[in-house]
Amino acid sequence: MISFVLNGKRVETESSPTARLLDVLREEFSLSGAKEGCGEGECGACSILLDGKLVNSCLIAIGSIEGKDVMTIEGFSGTERFKVLSDAFAEVGAVQCGFCIPGMVLASECLLSSCPTPTEEEIRIA
Ligand code: FES
Repeated sequence: MISFVLNGKRVETESSPTARLLDVLREEFSLSGAKEGCGEGECGACSILLDGKLVNSCLIAIGSIEGKDVMTIEGFSGTERFKVLSDAFAEVGAVQCGFCIPGMVLASECLLSSCPTPTEEEIRIA
């Protein structure tokens, strides 16, 4: 049994410790905001926040997150900052097909939580 905090609530899973966090989120918890794109840590479509840090959930084994805090776009969507970010993305047309937007919004949140007034270079790096 693996226990962790998912979008503010303690949850448990009996998934294999080697199962990918991405699959557990999507299949067991029906959280489809994190998507599978490349499946190898390159595209960011599967991004989530793990203890406040942006990670690719396709590279995380569920067995490694015991006791940790997982935030998906579904959890983040209830926050005031989500509204600010989603409005900003829409206002400047920073959306293509939408597949990777949840990851981009979470990447923005990760940057802003540690650097409230980033430079353009810091934004590009993030
Ligand atoms: Fe592309 Fe995880 S699916 S980084």
